[in-house]
Amino acid sequence: MKIGILTSGGDCPGLNAVIRGVVLKGTTTYGLEFVGIRDGWRGVVDADFFPLTRHEVKGLSKVGGTILGTSRTNPYEGPRGGAENIAKNLERHGIDGIIAIGGEGTLAAAKRLYDDGINVLGVPKTIDNDLRATDYSFGFDTAVNIATDAMDRLRTTGDSHQRCMVAEVMGRHVGWIALHSGMASGAHVICIPEVPMTIDEICTLVTSAYDRGRAPLVVVSEGFTLTGMEEAYSDKGLDAFNRPRLGGISEVLAPEIERITGIETRSTVLGHIQRGGSPSGFDRVLATRLGLHASDAIVDLAWGQMVAMRGTDIVRVPFAEALGELNTVPLSRYEEAAALFG
Ligand code: F6P
Repeated sequence: MKIGILTSGGDCPGLNAVIRGVVLKGTTTYGLEFVGIRDGWRGVVDADFFPLTRHEVKGLSKVGGTILGTSRTNPYEGPRGGAENIAKNLERHGIDGIIAIGGEGTLAAAKRLYDDGINVLGVPKTIDNDLRATDYSFGFDTAVNIATDAMDRLRTTGDSHQRCMVAEVMGRHVGWIALHSGMASGAHVICIPEVPMTIDEICTLVTSAYDRGRAPLVVVSEGFTLTGMEEAYSDKGLDAFNRPRLGGISEVLAPEIERITGIETRSTVLGHIQRGGSPSGFDRVLATRLGLHASDAIVDLAWGQMVAMRGTDIVRVPFAEALGELNTVPLSRYEEAAALFG
């Protein structure tokens, strides 16, 4: 059997480890043949394939980014898009199925193609940890480690100047990175999309930390909405992918905190640093295991499914179960962290 592998959507530490896991097990245990698909669904639509052997995946578990390249191409758009053309491309190159490594958007496209008769298997990817069918997604642990290291650094400079530091982390729809990095670094306030807060509530916590002799640390997810001040930053338009533009909530929060509390305040946006570089040990292992199990699933012809982590096991779940509602932070998890604020 010949299998194409693609990575699609935002990149994420661990993508290369998945590719290596799939190819190593698939070639040595099952005698499968692989081709890399360049730049996500773009490569499927344009038939942009290249041979992927053990040689190409050597030493990849520790390498950030993706050797395949990625894009946010929708396989149903454009003159060469659509299941019929894609099926022809695959047939012409003797490709029997595709492993699609990606997040919500990628998996939705994978499901649609599968429903249209194309053999697709999914592997979940998101630093935001927002896919509900997997307990953890690789990339998340790395992002939390990077953010935690950044918070620790912000705390020492904040302490030296007795300033309030506001750190903005990724998390378009969910607050997992903020929750975990905020807890890990002892933040005095964590602001996440799931839990609305007013500027006064935030300032009360900031002032209370300051009065206890601490330099307040506020961790905020990029997707957080400040109750009562939505208009101050929510109208930034759409990006090239029709998503609301995010980024900059910390730059709205910091001057407001300074104005209301009188405490000198600085903001930092961590941005794509959270997605770059080497995956953590945890993410290397998780991504590799997903890759190994993806190879098993191919041999079992388990198309239309996604490999996922449940507890410490890797399982298979149908695409339909993987899509839909996001894995948001439960209130109980937020309250655990909030018990440490005051
Ligand atoms: O989905 C992961 C994520 O990192 C989000 O947290 C963030 O909003 C988005 O990707 C940014 O993606 P890009 O800048 O690549 O479009």
